[in-house]
Amino acid sequence: MTSLVEKFSKPVPRYTSYPTAPHFHAGIDDATYATWLADLPEQASLSLYLHLPFCDRLCWFCGCHTKQVNRYDPVTRYLLALQAEVDRVGAMAGGGKVTALHWGGGSPSLLRPSDIADMTARIRRAFKVRPEAEFSVELDPNDMDEARFDAWALAGMTRASIGVQDFDPIVQAAINREQTFTQTQHVVLAVRSRGVRSVNIDMLYGLPHQTVAGAVVTATQVASLRPDRVALFGYAHVPWMKKHQTMIDEAALPDGPARFEQAEAAAAVFLAAGYLPIGMDHFALPHDSLAIAYGQGRLQRNFQGYTADRHDALIGLGASAIGKLPQGYVQNVVATHDYQQRALNGVGVIARGVAFAGDDVIRGHVIERLMCDFALDFSSLRAAFGADAEEVIGEAIAIGLADGDGLVRLLPGAMEITERGRPFVRTLASKFDAYLVGDSARYSRAV
Ligand SMILES: C[S@@+](CC[C@H](N)C(=O)[O-])C[C@H]1O[C@@H](n2cnc3c(N)ncnc32)[C@H](O)[C@@H]1O
Ligand code: SF4
Repeated sequence: MTSLVEKFSKPVPRYTSYPTAPHFHAGIDDATYATWLADLPEQASLSLYLHLPFCDRLCWFCGCHTKQVNRYDPVTRYLLALQAEVDRVGAMAGGGKVTALHWGGGSPSLLRPSDIADMTARIRRAFKVRPEAEFSVELDPNDMDEARFDAWALAGMTRASIGVQDFDPIVQAAINREQTFTQTQHVVLAVRSRGVRSVNIDMLYGLPHQTVAGAVVTATQVASLRPDRVALFGYAHVPWMKKHQTMIDEAALPDGPARFEQAEAAAAVFLAAGYLPIGMDHFALPHDSLAIAYGQGRLQRNFQGYTADRHDALIGLGASAIGKLPQGYVQNVVATHDYQQRALNGVGVIARGVAFAGDDVIRGHVIERLMCDFALDFSSLRAAFGADAEEVIGEAIAIGLADGDGLVRLLPGAMEITERGRPFVRTLASKFDAYLVGDSARYSRAV
């Protein structure tokens, strides 16, 4: 296995979109977005993503688009701009109904209770939010107090997504993120006691000073909290993109095979605790909607990772947020200051995007199915894409025939990634990426 890990260590995208973000360009602008929104059917189902690019601490491992703030004023200013964008896009998205709403960041958990209530009211005025809509929020336990728990519960939160990463104090010191088990347990109990029906916990492997034994201890502690879902991500070390990651001692980072062992050991803990493996990096209890969607072949992948939520359009709101419409992807301005200026001036905030062209949709579908199902069913591909499916089916068969590592199995009418091949799903998916040729320097390790 070690030699396989080394062989497939070439960096590849995480495929939360296809084409991937580096292929977005400024030719897709506010005018394009306006026509795409106007084309949404009256009854379209919408998923909203709201981005809050602020934290009151800066964890050195963090790869998210965020900035540390010591005062609340910048947050207040940003929320005014976000409200303006919510109103503007809500008016343009016509009669679409919101079936899912996700607050991410950064740390939306630092919002003041009155802002949580105001923003929620504003969103509900601008969009038709279905009463049964999923409403998830990323919570940094460090931010939380009783008033914030109450405010999020009252706003309608149905899932709390809690960042843990690792409980070992040595690892925590190396990534500048202190957080005890007791503090985390309190968050789980506090949201559960307020009727929040789903809890997700994020854990990382591949962190500085992390060991296999340490990953097992953290995974065991995480499993003892019985979250409905767990996301087990490999630490993506990209200091050329995230300057604060230069604070991480590279000499203390585990190498490829060690990362692999940590991931396997943590996964074994979750499996033994009754969790089902979902896609390449998630685990879920059998009752969870992610596990059900996976079992029924309905799992989806978007910028937030795996989701059970099916929608016609993903609407990104806030600095750097990404949206997906039937015609392509759009991304908002990344710099918070520019975003605020444009939103407050009542103009659009789109910086770039990409319109689907050529075989983008079919290749995107193939990559998504591989990342979600670990298999490609040729008859479903033919049913969805007709004769256009033959080229990718031919490629899948060629990959199966050329595979000398036992990663892929060809069945009558399907290509399947084997148990052994699953950790390399990103690399296998990348074989269908028509844009990837000679373009790996910007991505993180595949395993
Ligand atoms: C926006 S953050 C989580 C919310 C909240 N701010 C917190 O830290 O608890 C989302 C998740 O992304 C993951 N993440 C952040 N930086 C990462 C990186 N460099 N590599 C892999 N995962 C990362 C972490 O697991 C983190 O919990
Ligand atoms: S991990 Fe969470 S709290 Fe830490 S810097 Fe990133 S977004 Fe902020």
